[in-house]
Amino acid sequence: MISSPRLDTRYRLTEALALELAETYGTPLYVVDEKHFRERIRTYRQAFLAAYSRSEISLASKANSTLALVKIAYQEGCTIDVASEGEFRVALAAGVPGSKCHLHGNNKTRSEIEFALANGIGHIVADCFEEIEVLGQLLGEESNQTKIVLRLAPGVDPVTHAKISTGQADTKFGFNITDGSAERATVRCLKLGLNLYGFHCHVGSQLLDPEAQRSGGELIARFAIDMKDRHGFCAEYLNVGGGLGVTYTSKDQPMGMQDYCRLIVQTVTETLLGSGIDPVLGQEPGRSLVAESGLTLYRVGVIKTVPSPTIGKRTYAAVDGGLSDNPRPALYGSKYTVERVAPTPSEKTATFTVSGKHCETDKLFDEVPLSADLAVGDLIQVLCTGAYNSSMASNYNRYPRPASVLIREDGSHAVIQRRDSWEEMLARDILPDDLA
Ligand SMILES: Cc1ncc(COP(=O)(O)O)c(C=O)c1O
Repeated sequence: MISSPRLDTRYRLTEALALELAETYGTPLYVVDEKHFRERIRTYRQAFLAAYSRSEISLASKANSTLALVKIAYQEGCTIDVASEGEFRVALAAGVPGSKCHLHGNNKTRSEIEFALANGIGHIVADCFEEIEVLGQLLGEESNQTKIVLRLAPGVDPVTHAKISTGQADTKFGFNITDGSAERATVRCLKLGLNLYGFHCHVGSQLLDPEAQRSGGELIARFAIDMKDRHGFCAEYLNVGGGLGVTYTSKDQPMGMQDYCRLIVQTVTETLLGSGIDPVLGQEPGRSLVAESGLTLYRVGVIKTVPSPTIGKRTYAAVDGGLSDNPRPALYGSKYTVERVAPTPSEKTATFTVSGKHCETDKLFDEVPLSADLAVGDLIQVLCTGAYNSSMASNYNRYPRPASVLIREDGSHAVIQRRDSWEEMLARDILPDDLA
């Protein structure tokens, strides 16, 4: 299948708005555009529904679990994928009914499962035999009440960073199809009288080549056929996870949403043809729904040029954030597009290494082109940080996590998550009496 060429659809600020936001809320600042986010969801949902009417899109809330964004996704017709009790609590607090959420996690505690059941979770994605047994015990006589989906490891190895690759056989996630675990898990659920609903796989993230998801979809569909043939279990639900990539830099050319949804649907429906299995087909994207709708605004505080054994000399531009608001470059070597927004970028560019404030040698954005006359006090925007930035932020070096601001559809702006206060920073620490 030939994929359509991608336009640069990433949200970016005008100079005027960047100045206004920096003045009003300070930097570093996460900014998410509501219209952009809603449109991404609509495009994805419509593409999926057009290809297959029994489709269901969930927002993988791990990508960005701010209340407002979870609520917007729900308003746009998404169910919510939560990977922990904490994410489930966010969805509930956003007003999403428990029945419109499903719970993931490779090592759910008994109390997490109890909380999910008590709050009417839509379905639980069981990841290991231990969880199946706990579900059997907790549901007891009411084993039929809650839908259970089995997470499968289909044994496909996607082309992406090893740390976000999850579908291969050697993975902590799910039940291996090839070694028979997935079949044993199916049989065990049936034996316990659990309400087995279907199968799930998620093979990896930031996938620019969709072959791994295509192959994962085909393998779980084949597995569903085998389970029908061998055990009379007819899956009502198949979920191929998330993973569609986004444009961090112009080198990233992911498949368009329409082509991607058609590919997944075609693969699964062709595989199931004649099997008598007619499932609801689920996808749970995170990054591709929210990453491009967000950016981070920083202010440059230092510019210095130093000798470099590799490139002769290197010019650092240090910004007022770093590892604590965006750990992805350090974790995965992720690249980003960095732009000077204010004052207006000049035509001439030079290569800068944008570093953060942390105690690591955090080359946050290494060797990026920026306006040659970049100066201390300038604002820069880092595109495509709507996913896995605010949700992965920490207080390392005791920096307050940045605020998130939502640009509303009418052009106004509102804080949807405020910056940590110094009081909050110290609130968890306790000085024992003898040290006080
Ligand atoms: C089970 C599961 N589903 C969905 C996602 C979302 O992936 P992405 O943000 O790449 O779409 C992830 C990401 O780690 C995941 O582990």
